[in-house]
Amino acid sequence: MRVLLLGGLGVIGRATTEELLAATDHDLVVADTTASAPTPPHVPYESVDVTDAGLLTSLFERTGPDVVVNLAALVSFPTIREHPVRAADINLTGSLRVLEAADAVGARRVVFGSSKAVYGHIEGSRAHPEYRPVVESDVLAPRNPYDAFKVAAEVTGEAFAAEHMLDFIALRFGTIYGPGKNSRHGYSALFSRFVEAAVSGGPEHVERGGDQGDDLTYVRDCARAVVAAIEAAPGTAGAFNVATGRMVRVRDFVRAVRAAVPGADISIGDGLNYADETVSYRSVLSVDKAREVLGWAPAYDLATGVADYVAFERSRVSSAR
Ligand SMILES: NC(=O)c1ccc[n+]([C@@H]2O[C@H](COP(=O)([O-])OP(=O)(O)OC[C@H]3O[C@@H](n4cnc5c(N)ncnc54)[C@H](O)[C@@H]3O)[C@@H](O)[C@H]2O)c1
Repeated sequence: MRVLLLGGLGVIGRATTEELLAATDHDLVVADTTASAPTPPHVPYESVDVTDAGLLTSLFERTGPDVVVNLAALVSFPTIREHPVRAADINLTGSLRVLEAADAVGARRVVFGSSKAVYGHIEGSRAHPEYRPVVESDVLAPRNPYDAFKVAAEVTGEAFAAEHMLDFIALRFGTIYGPGKNSRHGYSALFSRFVEAAVSGGPEHVERGGDQGDDLTYVRDCARAVVAAIEAAPGTAGAFNVATGRMVRVRDFVRAVRAAVPGADISIGDGLNYADETVSYRSVLSVDKAREVLGWAPAYDLATGVADYVAFERSRVSSAR
């Protein structure tokens, strides 16, 4: 299959590229906003901006994808708050432009990078201390523009696909850790800070939050879910949680990093809400639907995900020397 990966230079995009190259024989084209990109030499790269319908049309005509994966988005909450119209143009209208361009060239499926943010503020039995798993049929209750654009893009995608010969699959990613996460990713950059500090030998001490439970997904499992969505049977559509279905505490993550890097000078204190959030997304996502329909299940637990991430970080640091 010809696969066009938009937003392919982001955290999930890079992991997806690796997964597609390692585990499949699809023809892949990676696209993102920079003029050129350090993708592997045999992977074609195209520069595109999802706010530019002309560029998108020409890209789709040149590449003729069967399946489009749209991971292009602004993810920084402060940037989105500061520039809501620009953010809507990328995260919402951009996804509609992608659907239109996909339909025009006869693509059969669009896989959209959605988020657990569609569920909004998590409370009651879904929140601490019970963490009963969030299911896809739960009420969608966006609380800020990022959430709202994800909900609107999902609903718009489903409506558009229903009127065209397209499958629309929305993957609602949970809290992700892995290479490349930084401050634009908000609270989840914390996990990268622990791994990077442990490998570089620097300290990272966070005052509060070790008791906070969450569902931490390694980015390679997200990439595997994208591949499962690409390869799912014709007619497969809908929204799917992508997480682990298990609650871990932030202190468990710190312990896993210490196990992978003995002597690491990292710690987190007791308590909840390490990021001072007024809207809390901390939750566990049921992955039963993805398991049943996409045939996907997470392959990494905390120990193996953290060990893989630490190995990546060690090799990145040594090759930068
Ligand atoms: N990583 C997470 O924790 C997480 C969690 C839930 C949902 N998601 C969603 O998954 C998707 C991918 O997330 P990510 O973590 O890889 O984000 P990222 O910021 O690492 O990657 C997004 C990519 O989109 C590109 N992009 C931005 N504006 C663009 C435009 N106008 N045209 C084309 N490309 C553009 C960026 O250059 C970047 O490479 C996003 O839709 C995000 O909202 C991510």
